[in-house]
Amino acid sequence: MAIDERFLDELTNRLDMIDVVSRYVHLDKKSGRWWGCCPFHNEKTPSFTVDPDKKVFYCFGCREGGGLIAFVEKVEKLEFPDAVSLLARMAGMEVPTDEREQAAYRRRGRMLNLNREAARFFHENLTGDQAQPAKEYMAERRIAPRMVSRFGLGYAPDKWDALITAMANKGYDKADLLDAGLAVKNEKGRIYDRFRNRLIFPIIDVSGNVLAFGGRVLDDSKPKYLNSPESYVYHKSDNLFALNLAKNTTEPNYIIAEGYMDVLMLHQAGFTNAVASLGTALTEEQCDLLKKRTGEVILCYDSDEAGQRATERAIELLRARDVKIRILRMKGAKDPDEYIKKNGADAFRALLEESENSSAYRLEKIRAKYDLSDDDGKLAFLNEAVGLVSGFRSAIEIELFAGKLAETTGIRRETIETEIRKAQTRKRRQTERREMRETLRPAGIAEKPAGNLRYRNVRLAQAVEGVISLVAANPELLREAESSLADEAPGEEALIHIWKAVKKAIKAGTAVNPDLLSDLLSPDERKLLSGLLMKTPDGPPRETLGEYLAAVEMETAKAKARGGTTEDLTALLKLKKEQSRT
Ligand code: GTP
Ligand code: MN
Repeated sequence: MAIDERFLDELTNRLDMIDVVSRYVHLDKKSGRWWGCCPFHNEKTPSFTVDPDKKVFYCFGCREGGGLIAFVEKVEKLEFPDAVSLLARMAGMEVPTDEREQAAYRRRGRMLNLNREAARFFHENLTGDQAQPAKEYMAERRIAPRMVSRFGLGYAPDKWDALITAMANKGYDKADLLDAGLAVKNEKGRIYDRFRNRLIFPIIDVSGNVLAFGGRVLDDSKPKYLNSPESYVYHKSDNLFALNLAKNTTEPNYIIAEGYMDVLMLHQAGFTNAVASLGTALTEEQCDLLKKRTGEVILCYDSDEAGQRATERAIELLRARDVKIRILRMKGAKDPDEYIKKNGADAFRALLEESENSSAYRLEKIRAKYDLSDDDGKLAFLNEAVGLVSGFRSAIEIELFAGKLAETTGIRRETIETEIRKAQTRKRRQTERREMRETLRPAGIAEKPAGNLRYRNVRLAQAVEGVISLVAANPELLREAESSLADEAPGEEALIHIWKAVKKAIKAGTAVNPDLLSDLLSPDERKLLSGLLMKTPDGPPRETLGEYLAAVEMETAKAKARGGTTEDLTALLKLKKEQSRT
């Protein structure tokens, strides 16, 4: 962490969290806590809560959570240091620029300079003689020469130490290259270039910093792409490839594709608003980036199974941010690159123009499942379609689709509208019941912890969550809990990290504040921790702790038993069946 921890502690202590949050959210006090409608997702009944003593917020609906600083970061869409400055101004304090902060800046600066030098080296190589294989490959893929400078493409020579040697002349040693992910070390300790004989795509942020590289093989060997690992300057989940180019687009929307090559071809064909999410499904952070820049996104993922799943996920995330979504569907081609090569840019533009909004896309997917010439099929279709439409947020959209449903099925529009209203009421009740249950249950964030976190063993996780909540609220229980719950016992990486962080904070005598734990916990882990801090279990603490620890032990034993051979499992299942028959 760049900014002094003691300063952050002092800062969050000086400010009244209710006071700050109330500038953005209307809060009401109910049973000792403050509640309001969450500013991070759309809702009508409050599930966003603030605990000013613990200095955390948490939304039981979208599972966003964190400390005061995280709140300001999110709500003002600021980076951490800027959120701190804003809060410091509110508190009338000055942010110290201490040595560590400067060290962090220096480290970042050095790594970015190295990356820039490396990008230049790769780029210059592509014009040299030895780059013949890469040039042939580019010709084969029909990459126009002007794209080389537009994207800063490069070529990594077919040698073990071309980059290492070139960078040594610029004053960077092997440790620097390892740090930046440009070199790798094998088991024997030998250090060599990560990228060899590959076409290089630099990943550049909106300020022009070279953050990382992707490298493609020139033939069919594997792996097809090699990418820089996460580093001090590169976090895969919060960058988009070609955003540095797309940010200048005059189009009202962004096109999102899967791969480097797709984006390159899109730009070459004149679609300068294309970016790629780089192999991963679109993440929350990437959606935030997009939301800051555009109101509409056109999803243009590959037409295969994985691409379709990525589309569904992206729809969910973008909807939650009120970004308009359209889905482009390609027939007869796997991806945009292939489509444009087969059919040309104009054909692709036509596809863009006819791309449907996400509601129509989803409805069409449901329609395709049923045979509407048959009454049963029609009924089943309507049931599912009404379920979908009743979840739409905009009244106009609902009305529009009620009309469409009436048209497709021949059933009166009024009847359909009544069914939609019924489904809406049902949904509302369900959500209310669920939120109520979740709020009342002691720990139990377990089913869907936060962000991209998923547990492998929900029951075990639930018990561990209970232990952590209790200990954070009752530090005097640490000793007892610690003697039973080993560091690795939670089994889940996130909980192991959180458990260690909580122990460390308590031992250091500081409050368990997610804002101050960013060097130990990932953003999702901090959200999860905020949820756990909000959910102190009821009941006498010591006894409840005993129950949770017993549950941890039992679930661990069960998990071990399940880890046995499959024969054991089949035998067990058989036994169960027989028992239920008698
Ligand atoms: P080509 O057209 O075959 O050059 O690739 P593409 O741009 O169509 O990419 P594809 O749809 O195959 O994959 C999408 C993205 O996933 C790529 O741009 C890479 O970021 C990533 N990816 C693909 N293959 C690999 C791989 O073998 N390893 C890694 N780490 N990432 C990959
Ligand atoms: Mn491709």
